[in-house]
Amino acid sequence: MAVSIAIASGKGGTGKTTISANLAVALAKFGKDVIVLDADIAMANLELVLGIEGKKGKTLNDVLAGNASIEEAIYEGPAGVKVIPAGISLDAFRKARPEKLEEVLKKLHDMAEIIIIDCPAGIGKEALTAISAAEHLILVVNPEISSIADALKVIAIAKKLGTNVLGAIINRTMKEDSELSSKAIATILEVPILGVVPEDPNVRKCAAFGEPIVLKYPDSPAAQAIMEIAAKLIGKKYIPEKKKEKESFIKKFLRGIFGGRK
Ligand SMILES: Nc1ncnc2c1ncn2[C@@H]1O[C@H](COP(=O)(O)OP(=O)(O)OP(=O)(O)O)[C@@H](O)[C@H]1O
Ligand SMILES: [Mg+2]
Repeated sequence: MAVSIAIASGKGGTGKTTISANLAVALAKFGKDVIVLDADIAMANLELVLGIEGKKGKTLNDVLAGNASIEEAIYEGPAGVKVIPAGISLDAFRKARPEKLEEVLKKLHDMAEIIIIDCPAGIGKEALTAISAAEHLILVVNPEISSIADALKVIAIAKKLGTNVLGAIINRTMKEDSELSSKAIATILEVPILGVVPEDPNVRKCAAFGEPIVLKYPDSPAAQAIMEIAAKLIGKKYIPEKKKEKESFIKKFLRGIFGGRK
């Protein structure tokens, strides 16, 4: 049985799609069987971030319209992640019935270990359908008051819908004085902070080329932060490659000095 996690926010543009795509790839890098589904059926762009938009075929909207089976809408993405795009066809979106999402998710439960659901922003009908269909929820917030205030509404609604809130990811931090601190955000939201992803120009570069940052620039600060969050979610410890290299260099060096002594 898969674990389903909705990635949601109150305010738009906080980084849900970026985090969903990269978290899915990061979990796959740790050996997990992952599905990432675009529940933002009106403004789909997960497929762009994961570089699979060229693959023409059935999409989630076709499935929700009853015109395709879910199996037909699954595509292989980076690192073996199974991607379910929402599709950009307006016609398919018009015919889609979002209330069918829960039924679709049930079918996916035997097809992976983890299902990441990229939600639309806010608390509209489509967002609520996705949040209520998921078992768990992670909020993506920016370190500013409007983002946090809107996140509070999502938390309240998730609780009402019976979706377990795992915590929040603070995205796009710039270490500016005007930013709310992690501690302040945790206090206001009353949920754990799962990680802090800094503002990183590589994120935009990767989005433009349809490549996840955790693969394209694994040593970049944003990629490392996302790898750490993925590791935390599955109870693993993440040691960045660079740190590993440094540690093994120090070990070899010390062995060189002390290794021969009895
Ligand atoms: N850590 C980051 N550093 C720099 N840019 C980022 C970062 N995270 C996200 N972005 C950029 O911010 C923009 C919005 O990100 P994204 O599309 O992931 O947000 P979203 O929450 O899914 O938006 P929407 O609510 O419209 O679905 C994109 O241009 C993305 O490249
Ligand atoms: Mg999005």
